[in-house]
Amino acid sequence: MTVVARTERLILRHIIAADAAPLYAVFCDADVMRFSKGVKTEEWVDNWVREIPATHYPEWGFGLWTVEEKAARSAIGYCGLFRTELCAAGEAEIGYRLATPFWGKGYAREIAAAACDAGFAQFGLSRILGLVDPQNRGSVRVLEALGMRYEGEIMKDWYDHPDHLYTLARGETP
Ligand SMILES: CC(C)(COP(=O)(O)OP(=O)(O)OC[C@H]1O[C@@H](n2cnc3c(N)ncnc32)[C@H](O)[C@@H]1OP(=O)(O)O)[C@@H](O)C(=O)NCCC(=O)NCCS
Repeated sequence: MTVVARTERLILRHIIAADAAPLYAVFCDADVMRFSKGVKTEEWVDNWVREIPATHYPEWGFGLWTVEEKAARSAIGYCGLFRTELCAAGEAEIGYRLATPFWGKGYAREIAAAACDAGFAQFGLSRILGLVDPQNRGSVRVLEALGMRYEGEIMKDWYDHPDHLYTLARGETP
């Protein structure tokens, strides 16, 4: 199993097919998916855990990764870096979702910081973007804790309201 980073309490590692069942608690939970376009089916998650390792890692080296709690050795969510149409060369967007029993412990801050460090140090990124619904206060706080700077609003074709764009350049980490 390829480990990307270790923090005090968490491990960030490549996604494997066996992560599907624990990740149902992420993608199939209405609270976790509140700021997304609804919950996913278990079948969708089964496909996702196969598709990400087959596309992200070979193409970019990095990608979305499984977050594992060290104490329990169990997958509790995902966090990672991925390229979108907003990303110039050397840039990636950060994304994260954790199952609700693991909220409020500082885990998102801890693992998102490790993902950014890996993006800059291991994968040579020059800038990391964070795109967030401004009503998603928890996620906004995570981006701010990373030292990200608010850049402005982004309105995609299919949005009904703008997201907020945050950025962090290499060397700016707190
Ligand atoms: C957003 C999410 C990852 C935060 O995870 P978490 O582990 O609970 O976050 P942390 O404990 O690291 O908290 C980070 C900060 O956010 C604050 N915070 C967390 N949830 C919050 C909420 N619902 N409302 C307000 N502040 C919140 C914490 O108090 C902390 O603030 P601080 O830095 O001032 O101490 C988690 O709630 C989640 O998975 N949400 C659903 C998926 C999602 O929205 N992903 C982001 C899409 S852009």
